[in-house]
Amino acid sequence: MKSILVTGGAGYIGSHTLVELISRGYDPIVVDNFSNSSPICLQRVEQITGKSVKCYNADIRNKAVMQQIFEENQIGSVIHFAGLKAVGESVAMPLEYYNNNVYGTIVLLQTMQKFGVKTIVFSSSATVYGTPERLPLDETCRLSTTNPYGATKLMIEGILQDLYVSDNSWNITLLRYFNPVGAHESGLIGEDPKGVPNNLTPYIAQVATGKLPFVRVMGNDYPTPDGTGVRDYIHVVDLALGHIKALEKMQSSGVHVFNLGTGKGYSVLDVIHAFERACGKPIPYQIVARRPGDIASCFADCTKANKQLDWQAHLGIDEMCQSLWNWQSKNPNGFEG
Ligand code: NAD
Ligand code: UFG
Repeated sequence: MKSILVTGGAGYIGSHTLVELISRGYDPIVVDNFSNSSPICLQRVEQITGKSVKCYNADIRNKAVMQQIFEENQIGSVIHFAGLKAVGESVAMPLEYYNNNVYGTIVLLQTMQKFGVKTIVFSSSATVYGTPERLPLDETCRLSTTNPYGATKLMIEGILQDLYVSDNSWNITLLRYFNPVGAHESGLIGEDPKGVPNNLTPYIAQVATGKLPFVRVMGNDYPTPDGTGVRDYIHVVDLALGHIKALEKMQSSGVHVFNLGTGKGYSVLDVIHAFERACGKPIPYQIVARRPGDIASCFADCTKANKQLDWQAHLGIDEMCQSLWNWQSKNPNGFEG
Protein backbone atom coordinates (compact mmCIF):
# COMPACT_ATOMS: atom_id res chain seq x y z
CA MET A 1 0.00 0.00 0.00
CA LYS A 2 1.28 3.48 -0.83
CA SER A 3 1.85 5.96 1.98
CA ILE A 4 -0.21 9.05 2.74
CA LEU A 5 1.82 12.22 3.26
CA VAL A 6 0.27 14.25 6.08
CA THR A 7 1.52 17.84 6.09
CA GLY A 8 1.11 19.49 9.49
CA GLY A 9 0.53 16.04 11.01
CA ALA A 10 1.85 17.08 14.44
CA GLY A 11 -0.86 19.73 14.77
CA TYR A 12 -4.25 19.52 16.42
CA ILE A 13 -6.39 18.10 13.59
CA GLY A 14 -3.45 16.34 11.90
CA SER A 15 -2.55 14.30 14.98
CA HIS A 16 -6.13 13.13 15.49
CA THR A 17 -6.27 12.16 11.81
CA LEU A 18 -3.01 10.20 12.17
CA VAL A 19 -4.56 8.11 14.95
CA GLU A 20 -7.58 7.24 12.81
CA LEU A 21 -5.44 6.52 9.73
CA ILE A 22 -3.05 4.25 11.61
CA SER A 23 -5.83 2.38 13.39
CA ARG A 24 -7.32 1.58 9.96
CA GLY A 25 -4.05 0.18 8.63
CA TYR A 26 -2.90 3.20 6.60
CA ASP A 27 0.74 4.23 6.53
CA PRO A 28 0.98 7.98 7.10
CA ILE A 29 4.23 9.96 6.83
CA VAL A 30 4.38 13.38 8.47
CA VAL A 31 6.09 16.58 7.40
CA ASP A 32 5.89 19.35 10.01
CA ASN A 33 8.15 22.24 10.96
CA PHE A 34 6.73 22.32 14.51
CA SER A 35 6.04 26.05 14.19
CA ASN A 36 2.77 25.50 16.06
CA SER A 37 3.18 22.02 17.51
CA SER A 38 5.41 19.74 19.54
CA PRO A 39 7.24 16.53 18.62
CA ILE A 40 5.81 15.11 21.86
CA CYS A 41 2.43 15.02 20.13
CA LEU A 42 3.76 12.41 17.69
CA GLN A 43 5.12 10.34 20.59
CA ARG A 44 1.62 10.41 22.05
CA VAL A 45 0.16 9.26 18.71
CA GLU A 46 2.62 6.35 18.89
CA GLN A 47 1.50 5.64 22.45
CA ILE A 48 -2.16 5.51 21.39
CA THR A 49 -1.65 3.43 18.25
CA GLY A 50 1.36 1.29 19.19
CA LYS A 51 2.94 2.19 15.82
CA SER A 52 5.87 4.48 15.11
CA VAL A 53 5.25 7.53 12.92
CA LYS A 54 7.81 8.52 10.30
CA CYS A 55 8.26 12.28 10.45
CA TYR A 56 10.30 14.83 8.53
CA ASN A 57 11.02 17.91 10.64
CA ALA A 58 10.83 20.30 7.69
CA ASP A 59 9.04 23.24 6.17
CA ILE A 60 6.82 22.47 3.18
CA ARG A 61 8.32 25.55 1.47
CA ASN A 62 11.69 23.78 1.36
CA LYS A 63 11.73 22.42 -2.20
CA ALA A 64 14.78 20.20 -1.68
CA VAL A 65 13.32 18.44 1.35
CA MET A 66 9.92 18.05 -0.28
CA GLN A 67 11.64 16.41 -3.26
CA GLN A 68 13.60 14.16 -0.88
CA ILE A 69 10.38 13.07 0.88
CA PHE A 70 8.79 12.02 -2.43
CA GLU A 71 12.00 10.28 -3.55
CA GLU A 72 12.40 8.30 -0.34
CA ASN A 73 8.78 7.15 0.00
CA GLN A 74 6.07 5.64 -2.18
CA ILE A 75 3.47 8.35 -1.66
CA GLY A 76 0.01 7.82 -3.15
CA SER A 77 -1.89 10.79 -1.71
CA VAL A 78 -1.55 13.85 0.50
CA ILE A 79 -3.64 15.27 3.33
CA HIS A 80 -2.62 18.90 3.57
CA PHE A 81 -3.06 20.45 7.03
CA ALA A 82 0.14 22.53 7.24
CA GLY A 83 -0.60 26.22 7.55
CA LEU A 84 -0.92 29.17 9.89
CA LYS A 85 -4.44 29.62 11.23
CA ALA A 86 -4.85 32.58 13.61
CA VAL A 87 -7.20 35.18 12.16
CA GLY A 88 -5.92 38.13 14.25
CA GLU A 89 -2.28 37.26 13.61
CA SER A 90 -3.01 37.11 9.88
CA VAL A 91 -4.24 40.72 9.98
CA ALA A 92 -1.00 41.76 11.72
CA MET A 93 1.33 39.58 9.56
CA PRO A 94 -0.36 39.15 6.16
CA LEU A 95 2.85 38.49 4.21
CA GLU A 96 3.80 35.65 6.54
CA TYR A 97 0.37 34.10 6.03
CA TYR A 98 0.42 34.37 2.22
CA ASN A 99 3.98 33.07 2.14
CA ASN A 100 3.43 30.13 4.46
CA ASN A 101 -0.03 29.05 3.36
CA VAL A 102 -0.17 29.93 -0.34
CA TYR A 103 3.49 29.57 -1.33
CA GLY A 104 3.83 26.46 0.87
CA THR A 105 0.88 24.87 -0.93
CA ILE A 106 2.38 25.75 -4.34
CA VAL A 107 5.68 24.06 -3.45
CA LEU A 108 3.75 21.01 -2.25
CA LEU A 109 1.65 20.86 -5.45
CA GLN A 110 4.67 21.33 -7.69
CA THR A 111 6.40 18.45 -5.96
CA MET A 112 3.31 16.26 -6.23
CA GLN A 113 3.02 17.11 -9.92
CA LYS A 114 6.67 16.23 -10.51
CA PHE A 115 6.20 12.82 -8.91
CA GLY A 116 2.80 12.15 -10.52
CA VAL A 117 0.95 12.14 -7.17
CA LYS A 118 -2.40 13.76 -7.91
CA THR A 119 -4.67 13.02 -4.96
CA ILE A 120 -4.96 15.69 -2.28
CA VAL A 121 -7.34 16.43 0.58
CA PHE A 122 -7.08 20.07 1.62
CA SER A 123 -8.04 21.67 4.97
CA SER A 124 -10.29 24.52 4.01
CA SER A 125 -12.53 26.35 6.41
CA ALA A 126 -16.01 27.74 6.91
CA THR A 127 -14.22 31.08 6.92
CA VAL A 128 -14.44 31.00 3.09
CA TYR A 129 -18.17 31.77 3.41
CA GLY A 130 -17.33 35.17 4.98
CA THR A 131 -20.57 36.73 6.18
CA PRO A 132 -23.07 33.92 5.47
CA GLU A 133 -25.32 34.50 2.49
CA ARG A 134 -27.92 32.18 4.09
CA LEU A 135 -28.10 29.58 6.86
CA PRO A 136 -27.44 26.72 7.02
CA LEU A 137 -24.44 27.14 4.75
CA ASP A 138 -24.24 24.68 1.88
CA GLU A 139 -21.35 24.27 -0.51
CA THR A 140 -22.97 26.45 -3.17
CA CYS A 141 -23.18 29.54 -0.93
CA ARG A 142 -21.34 32.66 -2.02
CA LEU A 143 -17.66 32.78 -1.00
CA SER A 144 -15.89 35.83 0.42
CA THR A 145 -13.22 36.69 2.93
CA THR A 146 -12.86 39.15 5.75
CA ASN A 147 -9.20 38.64 6.71
CA PRO A 148 -5.85 37.47 5.22
CA TYR A 149 -6.15 33.98 6.76
CA GLY A 150 -9.49 33.47 5.02
CA ALA A 151 -8.02 34.92 1.83
CA THR A 152 -5.28 32.26 1.86
CA LYS A 153 -7.91 29.50 2.12
CA LEU A 154 -9.96 30.97 -0.71
CA MET A 155 -6.84 31.45 -2.86
CA ILE A 156 -5.72 27.88 -2.30
CA GLU A 157 -9.19 26.59 -3.21
CA GLY A 158 -8.89 28.63 -6.44
CA ILE A 159 -5.38 27.35 -7.16
CA LEU A 160 -6.61 23.78 -6.78
CA GLN A 161 -9.59 24.44 -9.08
CA ASP A 162 -7.22 25.91 -11.69
CA LEU A 163 -4.87 22.96 -11.36
CA TYR A 164 -7.72 20.59 -12.09
CA VAL A 165 -8.72 22.60 -15.17
CA SER A 166 -5.14 22.30 -16.44
CA ASP A 167 -4.99 18.55 -15.78
CA ASN A 168 -8.22 16.58 -15.33
CA SER A 169 -6.46 13.65 -13.73
CA TRP A 170 -6.13 15.41 -10.37
CA ASN A 171 -8.37 14.18 -7.55
CA ILE A 172 -8.88 17.12 -5.20
CA THR A 173 -11.08 17.25 -2.11
CA LEU A 174 -11.70 20.55 -0.32
CA LEU A 175 -12.98 20.01 3.21
CA ARG A 176 -14.53 23.11 4.75
CA TYR A 177 -14.33 22.59 8.50
CA PHE A 178 -16.69 24.39 10.83
CA ASN A 179 -15.41 24.80 14.45
CA PRO A 180 -13.24 21.81 15.47
CA VAL A 181 -13.16 21.20 19.24
CA GLY A 182 -12.58 18.40 21.75
CA ALA A 183 -9.85 15.82 21.97
CA HIS A 184 -9.07 12.12 21.62
CA GLU A 185 -10.76 9.99 24.30
CA SER A 186 -7.37 8.92 25.71
CA GLY A 187 -6.60 12.47 26.85
CA LEU A 188 -3.13 12.01 25.35
CA ILE A 189 -3.54 14.42 22.44
CA GLY A 190 -5.54 17.63 22.11
CA GLU A 191 -5.38 21.25 21.14
CA ASP A 192 -2.36 23.01 22.64
CA PRO A 193 -2.57 26.72 21.77
CA LYS A 194 0.51 28.84 22.39
CA GLY A 195 -0.13 31.75 24.80
CA VAL A 196 -3.63 32.93 25.65
CA PRO A 197 -6.12 31.05 23.43
CA ASN A 198 -8.03 33.00 20.79
CA ASN A 199 -10.74 30.41 20.38
CA LEU A 200 -13.63 29.88 22.73
CA THR A 201 -13.30 26.28 23.91
CA PRO A 202 -9.57 26.26 24.81
CA TYR A 203 -10.19 29.56 26.61
CA ILE A 204 -13.04 28.05 28.65
CA ALA A 205 -10.85 25.03 29.45
CA GLN A 206 -8.11 27.29 30.84
CA VAL A 207 -10.68 29.11 32.98
CA ALA A 208 -11.76 25.71 34.32
CA THR A 209 -8.18 24.86 35.37
CA GLY A 210 -7.79 28.27 37.04
CA LYS A 211 -5.18 29.53 34.57
CA LEU A 212 -7.50 32.32 33.39
CA PRO A 213 -9.96 34.11 35.70
CA PHE A 214 -13.14 34.23 33.57
CA VAL A 215 -14.46 33.80 30.04
CA ARG A 216 -15.04 37.01 28.11
CA VAL A 217 -18.32 36.49 26.26
CA MET A 218 -17.78 38.71 23.27
CA GLY A 219 -21.16 40.28 22.64
CA ASN A 220 -24.69 39.42 23.86
CA ASP A 221 -26.58 41.63 21.42
CA TYR A 222 -26.42 39.41 18.32
CA PRO A 223 -29.70 38.37 16.65
CA THR A 224 -29.45 34.85 18.16
CA PRO A 225 -31.67 33.10 20.77
CA ASP A 226 -29.59 34.30 23.76
CA GLY A 227 -27.74 37.16 22.03
CA THR A 228 -24.34 35.42 21.96
CA GLY A 229 -22.59 34.14 18.84
CA VAL A 230 -23.72 30.79 17.40
CA ARG A 231 -21.30 28.31 15.81
CA ASP A 232 -21.30 24.74 14.49
CA TYR A 233 -18.83 22.97 16.80
CA ILE A 234 -17.59 19.60 15.54
CA HIS A 235 -15.67 16.97 17.53
CA VAL A 236 -12.13 16.69 16.16
CA VAL A 237 -12.42 12.89 15.97
CA ASP A 238 -15.52 13.15 13.76
CA LEU A 239 -13.58 15.63 11.65
CA ALA A 240 -10.59 13.27 11.39
CA LEU A 241 -12.92 10.50 10.19
CA GLY A 242 -14.19 12.82 7.46
CA HIS A 243 -10.69 12.82 5.95
CA ILE A 244 -10.62 9.05 5.79
CA LYS A 245 -14.03 8.96 4.14
CA ALA A 246 -12.80 11.56 1.65
CA LEU A 247 -9.83 9.38 0.71
CA GLU A 248 -11.90 6.22 0.50
CA LYS A 249 -15.02 7.52 -1.25
CA MET A 250 -13.55 10.14 -3.58
CA GLN A 251 -11.62 7.82 -5.87
CA SER A 252 -12.44 9.62 -9.11
CA SER A 253 -10.76 12.71 -10.47
CA GLY A 254 -12.40 16.10 -9.95
CA VAL A 255 -12.68 18.87 -7.38
CA HIS A 256 -14.93 17.63 -4.59
CA VAL A 257 -16.10 20.16 -1.99
CA PHE A 258 -17.66 19.25 1.36
CA ASN A 259 -18.72 21.00 4.53
CA LEU A 260 -17.76 19.13 7.70
CA GLY A 261 -19.86 20.21 10.66
CA THR A 262 -22.74 18.84 12.72
CA GLY A 263 -25.43 21.07 11.26
CA LYS A 264 -26.31 22.28 14.77
CA GLY A 265 -25.54 25.74 16.13
CA TYR A 266 -24.64 26.37 19.77
CA SER A 267 -24.28 29.77 21.40
CA VAL A 268 -21.34 30.87 23.53
CA LEU A 269 -23.50 30.45 26.64
CA ASP A 270 -24.61 26.96 25.50
CA VAL A 271 -20.94 25.97 25.25
CA ILE A 272 -20.08 27.44 28.66
CA HIS A 273 -22.96 25.50 30.24
CA ALA A 274 -21.96 22.26 28.46
CA PHE A 275 -18.43 22.72 29.79
CA GLU A 276 -19.78 23.27 33.31
CA ARG A 277 -21.57 19.91 33.04
CA ALA A 278 -18.35 18.29 31.83
CA CYS A 279 -16.02 19.65 34.51
CA GLY A 280 -18.54 19.75 37.34
CA LYS A 281 -17.87 23.32 38.40
CA PRO A 282 -19.16 26.77 37.49
CA ILE A 283 -17.33 28.68 34.74
CA PRO A 284 -17.25 32.39 35.59
CA TYR A 285 -17.88 34.71 32.65
CA GLN A 286 -18.40 38.39 31.87
CA ILE A 287 -20.12 39.96 28.91
CA VAL A 288 -17.74 42.21 26.98
CA ALA A 289 -17.91 44.04 23.65
CA ARG A 290 -18.26 42.16 20.35
CA ARG A 291 -14.99 41.00 18.75
CA PRO A 292 -14.45 42.99 15.53
CA GLY A 293 -15.09 40.89 12.45
CA ASP A 294 -17.22 38.24 14.20
CA ILE A 295 -20.46 37.12 12.59
CA ALA A 296 -23.64 36.35 14.54
CA SER A 297 -24.27 32.78 13.41
CA CYS A 298 -22.59 30.11 11.33
CA PHE A 299 -23.68 26.51 10.87
CA ALA A 300 -23.46 23.95 8.12
CA ASP A 301 -25.69 22.00 5.84
CA CYS A 302 -23.78 18.69 5.69
CA THR A 303 -26.19 16.83 3.41
CA LYS A 304 -23.58 16.51 0.66
CA ALA A 305 -21.02 14.87 2.95
CA ASN A 306 -23.74 12.62 4.41
CA LYS A 307 -24.75 11.42 0.94
CA GLN A 308 -21.51 11.35 -1.02
CA LEU A 309 -18.97 10.53 1.71
CA ASP A 310 -21.34 8.42 3.81
CA TRP A 311 -20.10 10.58 6.68
CA GLN A 312 -21.80 12.30 9.53
CA ALA A 313 -20.75 13.67 12.88
CA HIS A 314 -21.80 11.42 15.76
CA LEU A 315 -20.40 13.17 18.82
CA GLY A 316 -22.37 15.97 20.46
CA ILE A 317 -21.53 19.07 22.46
CA ASP A 318 -21.31 17.15 25.76
CA GLU A 319 -18.79 14.65 24.34
CA MET A 320 -16.82 17.56 22.88
CA CYS A 321 -16.59 19.30 26.26
CA GLN A 322 -15.95 16.08 28.23
CA SER A 323 -13.07 15.07 25.97
CA LEU A 324 -11.61 18.57 26.05
CA TRP A 325 -11.78 18.59 29.85
CA ASN A 326 -10.17 15.13 29.98
CA TRP A 327 -7.25 16.41 27.84
CA GLN A 328 -6.98 19.76 29.62
CA SER A 329 -7.08 18.37 33.16
CA LYS A 330 -4.47 15.72 32.36
CA ASN A 331 -2.24 18.21 30.47
CA PRO A 332 -2.85 21.64 32.01
CA ASN A 333 0.29 22.99 30.35
CA GLY A 334 -0.13 21.15 27.05
CA PHE A 335 2.54 18.85 25.60
CA GLU A 336 5.57 20.72 26.88
CA GLY A 337 4.20 20.87 30.42
P1 NAD B 1 -2.30 23.44 13.94
O1 NAD B 1 -1.56 24.73 13.98
O2 NAD B 1 -2.46 22.70 15.21
O3 NAD B 1 -1.63 22.46 12.88
C1 NAD B 1 -0.95 22.93 11.73
C2 NAD B 1 0.39 22.23 11.69
O4 NAD B 1 1.11 22.66 10.53
C3 NAD B 1 1.28 22.56 12.90
O5 NAD B 1 1.80 21.36 13.43
C4 NAD B 1 2.40 23.44 12.31
O6 NAD B 1 3.62 23.27 13.01
C5 NAD B 1 2.45 22.94 10.88
N1 NAD B 1 2.96 23.90 9.89
C6 NAD B 1 2.55 25.18 9.70
N2 NAD B 1 3.22 25.72 8.67
C7 NAD B 1 4.06 24.77 8.20
C8 NAD B 1 5.02 24.72 7.15
N3 NAD B 1 5.26 25.79 6.38
N4 NAD B 1 5.71 23.57 6.95
C9 NAD B 1 5.48 22.49 7.72
N5 NAD B 1 4.60 22.48 8.74
C10 NAD B 1 3.89 23.60 8.97
O7 NAD B 1 -3.72 23.73 13.27
P2 NAD B 1 -4.99 22.79 13.14
O8 NAD B 1 -6.07 23.36 13.99
O9 NAD B 1 -4.61 21.38 13.28
O10 NAD B 1 -5.40 23.11 11.63
C11 NAD B 1 -4.98 22.29 10.56
C12 NAD B 1 -5.47 22.90 9.26
O11 NAD B 1 -6.90 23.04 9.33
C13 NAD B 1 -4.92 24.29 8.98
O12 NAD B 1 -4.67 24.41 7.60
C14 NAD B 1 -6.06 25.20 9.40
O13 NAD B 1 -6.04 26.42 8.69
C15 NAD B 1 -7.27 24.37 9.02
N6 NAD B 1 -8.47 24.73 9.80
C16 NAD B 1 -8.42 24.74 11.15
C17 NAD B 1 -9.54 25.13 11.88
C18 NAD B 1 -9.50 25.21 13.38
O14 NAD B 1 -10.33 25.91 13.96
N7 NAD B 1 -8.59 24.50 14.06
C19 NAD B 1 -10.73 25.46 11.20
C20 NAD B 1 -10.75 25.40 9.82
C21 NAD B 1 -9.61 25.03 9.11
N1 UFG C 1 -15.82 33.94 21.72
C1 UFG C 1 -16.03 34.51 22.96
N2 UFG C 1 -14.97 34.63 23.81
C2 UFG C 1 -13.70 34.20 23.46
C3 UFG C 1 -13.51 33.62 22.20
C4 UFG C 1 -14.60 33.50 21.33
O1 UFG C 1 -17.14 34.90 23.30
O2 UFG C 1 -12.77 34.34 24.28
C5 UFG C 1 -16.98 33.74 20.83
C6 UFG C 1 -16.84 34.40 19.45
O3 UFG C 1 -17.31 35.72 19.50
C7 UFG C 1 -17.70 33.46 18.59
C8 UFG C 1 -17.54 32.09 19.26
O4 UFG C 1 -17.10 32.37 20.59
O5 UFG C 1 -19.05 33.84 18.69
C9 UFG C 1 -16.52 31.19 18.57
O6 UFG C 1 -15.28 31.89 18.43
P1 UFG C 1 -13.94 31.11 18.06
O7 UFG C 1 -12.83 32.12 18.12
O8 UFG C 1 -13.78 29.89 18.88
O9 UFG C 1 -14.20 30.60 16.56
P2 UFG C 1 -14.57 31.41 15.25
O10 UFG C 1 -15.91 30.92 14.80
O11 UFG C 1 -14.41 32.86 15.42
O12 UFG C 1 -13.44 30.93 14.22
C10 UFG C 1 -12.97 29.57 14.13
C11 UFG C 1 -11.52 29.60 13.68
C12 UFG C 1 -11.44 30.16 12.28
C13 UFG C 1 -12.30 29.34 11.38
C14 UFG C 1 -13.72 29.30 11.88
C15 UFG C 1 -14.58 28.40 11.05
O13 UFG C 1 -10.75 30.41 14.57
O14 UFG C 1 -10.12 30.10 11.83
O15 UFG C 1 -13.74 28.83 13.23
O16 UFG C 1 -13.98 27.16 10.89
F1 UFG C 1 -12.31 29.90 10.14
